[in-house]
Amino acid sequence: MPEIDELIESEIRRPTVFIDESVLYPEYVPKRLPHRENHVRKIAAFFKAFSDSPGRTSVRVVLVGPVGTGKTATAIAFGRAFSRMMQRRGVLLRYVHVNCSKSSNPASIFRDIKNQLGLPLPDRGLSAREMAVGLLKMLERENMYVIVTLDEIEYFIKSSSPSGRFLLLRFYDVFKEDVKRMNFIYVTRGSPTGIQAVLDSITGSYLMENVIPFQPYTAAELMDILNDRVKEAFYEGVVDEEVVESIARLTGYDTGGDGNARKAIAILHAAGKLADKELAEGRTSRVTVDHVRAVVAQEYQSLIDVLDKIYHLELHEILVLKAIILALHRTGESFIPMGEIERTYREICEELGEEPRKHTRVYMLVMDLKRRGIIITKTSMKGRRGRSTYVGFAAAPLDRLLEKLNKVIEEKRLMR
Ligand SMILES: Nc1ncnc2c1ncn2[C@@H]1O[C@H](COP(=O)(O)OP(=O)(O)OP(=O)(O)O)[C@@H](O)[C@H]1O
Ligand SMILES: [Mg+2]
Repeated sequence: MPEIDELIESEIRRPTVFIDESVLYPEYVPKRLPHRENHVRKIAAFFKAFSDSPGRTSVRVVLVGPVGTGKTATAIAFGRAFSRMMQRRGVLLRYVHVNCSKSSNPASIFRDIKNQLGLPLPDRGLSAREMAVGLLKMLERENMYVIVTLDEIEYFIKSSSPSGRFLLLRFYDVFKEDVKRMNFIYVTRGSPTGIQAVLDSITGSYLMENVIPFQPYTAAELMDILNDRVKEAFYEGVVDEEVVESIARLTGYDTGGDGNARKAIAILHAAGKLADKELAEGRTSRVTVDHVRAVVAQEYQSLIDVLDKIYHLELHEILVLKAIILALHRTGESFIPMGEIERTYREICEELGEEPRKHTRVYMLVMDLKRRGIIITKTSMKGRRGRSTYVGFAAAPLDRLLEKLNKVIEEKRLMR
């Protein structure tokens, strides 16, 4: 067996196509955001009120658009740059990013905000309202202003109570402060008209004027985005020119894709990984269109496998599967507990106007999905309460599968 030193040495010296792979991770925020300059400009126009006179009003902006259109990246890029700019002018403005699929009730959102700000505020046993009051006091004491982005706010809106929604979305109608230290960027998937109804009921129509829509990317736009990443992530000349073009064509909104930049970057990443592996085996020296094809074919294949199996299932078994996929997608975890699946299942049934199956039946449906090899389960000892079941899924990309599942569900319901 080789010595540990040798193992490490050979891994470090291994030839690779990547200079910096982390540039291709979904959470990486690039220095430039091609084709989102106008969006940044529009957000800045709303925040002019802040730079003119910090604290006079609470600025609120809504970013809305489909998956992977740069909403999160734009909010973060704007928030960081604008806070730096204000700090240079002697105004203590801080940027905080909260993802509502992880913190989805007011108390945990306020806790997240104060943690990110590093404020020494005790939170044990405090209600959301009490925490907000404490937070405002601290901000006053530090003479600090904040931009809070509430990302994927649809999760919060769906799961919170009317009073919770009121507290968060009409913050300064609840807390009548003279100096408005909190500013909000709300981010949500969907279409401006879809979000209108939801927001209207909570905030009145006023907020609708502050909506900035994000459009799916065209192939040409995706080429610019991908080219930037290629330059930062790979050694020069390692990625064939046609690679970027073919990925852009696969994913571009105008060329039959869904205009999702995350997906485009993920394909580039996977193609790079595949080439990297082949490079180590001496089978290639660069990233080619063949690598792109292989990656896309693999992704489709596992998807086709799953879909092939689910067409034969009864509607409620598919709804349970959707609940599993949706819950995994929302939480970003690899396994989720049964309770979460049932909650999500009921939510889906309610949306569709379907009568949900009883608890034991849902459990049996999950076990059937397992028997068919569509999902995997594991059990864990949960203190005195005995064993509990966790469910995971590995075969296909979740967002793609969700889209397909929705289509199958629609068809099944029509065929009844
Ligand atoms: N204009 C752009 N320039 C460079 N990279 C971009 C651009 N738009 C999006 N990206 C990248 O694409 C990925 C997806 O973008 P982002 O997460 O901002 O999308 P989103 O609209 O928030 O999607 P979702 O609705 O799924 O949350 C990220 O890695 C982001 O850095
Ligand atoms: Mg996002």
